[in-house]
Amino acid sequence: MSDYLKDLFSLEGRVALVAGASSGIGANFARALARAGADVVLGARRVERIKALSDDIADDTGQRTLAVQLDVTDGDSVKAAFDQAAENLGVPTIVCNNAGIADPMWAIDVTEESWDKVMDTNLKGMWRVATEAASRMRDAGRGGSIVNTASILGLGVGPTHTTYSTSKAGVVQMTRNMAIEFQRFGVRVNALCPGYFKTEINESYLESEPGRTHVAMTPAKRVGDLKELEAPLLMLVGAGGSFVSGVALPVDGAHSVLIV
Ligand code: NAI
Repeated sequence: MSDYLKDLFSLEGRVALVAGASSGIGANFARALARAGADVVLGARRVERIKALSDDIADDTGQRTLAVQLDVTDGDSVKAAFDQAAENLGVPTIVCNNAGIADPMWAIDVTEESWDKVMDTNLKGMWRVATEAASRMRDAGRGGSIVNTASILGLGVGPTHTTYSTSKAGVVQMTRNMAIEFQRFGVRVNALCPGYFKTEINESYLESEPGRTHVAMTPAKRVGDLKELEAPLLMLVGAGGSFVSGVALPVDGAHSVLIV
């Protein structure tokens, strides 16, 4: 990498924590951050799975990695994950707040149980992780960068997605509010708003006939490749993004700007 690119994107000497790292976008973020030079803490509920992934990323990149159990719906679990990160690798100054679930159903059929589960994970869970992350950075006197994985469904809406899109719109607003408040600690907060990427959260839908028809109607006529989220992430967390905060960045092949 040239010195010019290194100054913009290298994460050497940084510690990153990825919440929801056991699959899909989070697993790929963890590897991308290590490839860019960060030591990486992988947090998820399925600890056996992230242990294997953590070892694989360490072998692949030569960076230090750590797998920690993390349930974003449990405040004690969030604190314990940050404690383990700090003890083993150092205070994370890059935090990918990525855990999320979907429970699609028509708005009229949504149960309180479903509503609470989606909100507790997608919105309150991201609030738990982001506030814990920022307070640790503040207490350590270190600036940093928090990236919340929102969605294009936090910017627009779609059938059967009332709870999910409401939670993700909340993440977008939370991102903006935290960005103005955490600036005083040198902590930037941004949201990535992915379009459709095939992962465990949506693969059965995207492989179905309605899913394929849906994707064919988007401007790019394809789902994203996980690699296409890496450069936007690296821009948001690296030195090159030092004046970028409070942004909700769609990475979606123009899906979110289409009016049909
Ligand atoms: P995924 O299902 O592969 O990953 C979700 C991750 O969140 C998993 O690692 C899961 O274990 C973790 N998770 C769920 N509940 C958790 C909890 N209580 N505590 C800790 N971890 C928990 O799906 P994907 O696509 O990788 O999702 C990652 C994020 O990206 C989610 O926030 C999702 O809403 C968002 N997203 C995904 C899109 C897509 O097309 N795949 C589009 C837009 C946003």
